[in-house]
Amino acid sequence: MSVSRKVAAGKSRWSYLNLPDRYSLRSGGIEDLDAVYRLSRESFDSSWSYESLYSALETGYDLIICERGHELAGYLLSMSILDETQIMQIAVGEQFRRRGLAEAMTQALIESSSGIAVIMLEVRVSNAAARSLYAKLGFRESGYRKNYYAPDASGLSEDAVLMELKLD
Ligand SMILES: CC(C)(COP(=O)(O)OP(=O)(O)OC[C@H]1O[C@@H](n2cnc3c(N)ncnc32)[C@H](O)[C@@H]1OP(=O)(O)O)[C@@H](O)C(=O)NCCC(=O)NCCS
Repeated sequence: MSVSRKVAAGKSRWSYLNLPDRYSLRSGGIEDLDAVYRLSRESFDSSWSYESLYSALETGYDLIICERGHELAGYLLSMSILDETQIMQIAVGEQFRRRGLAEAMTQALIESSSGIAVIMLEVRVSNAAARSLYAKLGFRESGYRKNYYAPDASGLSEDAVLMELKLD
């Protein structure tokens, strides 16, 4: 499937995206590191270290921030090389979920992807919420990686589903 990018002529960058009242999107950076790190610890079983997140932001990974007022509600971290973008992490704070925030951040990424041919990601096979989010936005499953995620406390590893969205 192929998706068209919308041009938001005359508007601020993502103001046309459908967000609940008092929520907004912006590009993030190193100044968001502490809040992003805290949310990543709450959101993932095995999250990145502070140092890994720091160096990702220092070396040019892209960050989309979703806020309610000045409070971090969610973020999307991605990396682009040539004409490919990889979604590295997306997380929404538990109290902010099911309001369309992850959908809006992913849509913002898609619509900022000038010159990008494909957006890719890996997701745990058990992560029904994330798989459903991406499917809703037109991502297709393109393969599996066996035992991609390291064993958890019970000693079980987990496969990753590869998903991708081809852009015009
Ligand atoms: C996955 C996650 C980012 C979704 O964030 P969210 O802001 O609640 O998602 P949205 O409200 O934008 O939902 C958009 C779509 O995603 C899907 N979805 C989101 N949460 C879901 C859930 N708990 N169960 C089933 N589908 C879900 C639905 O298709 C939803 O569309 P709908 O509301 O029309 O049904 C959030 O649950 C999260 O942070 N999880 C922990 C971190 C994580 O797993 N990240 C993904 C790693 S790849």
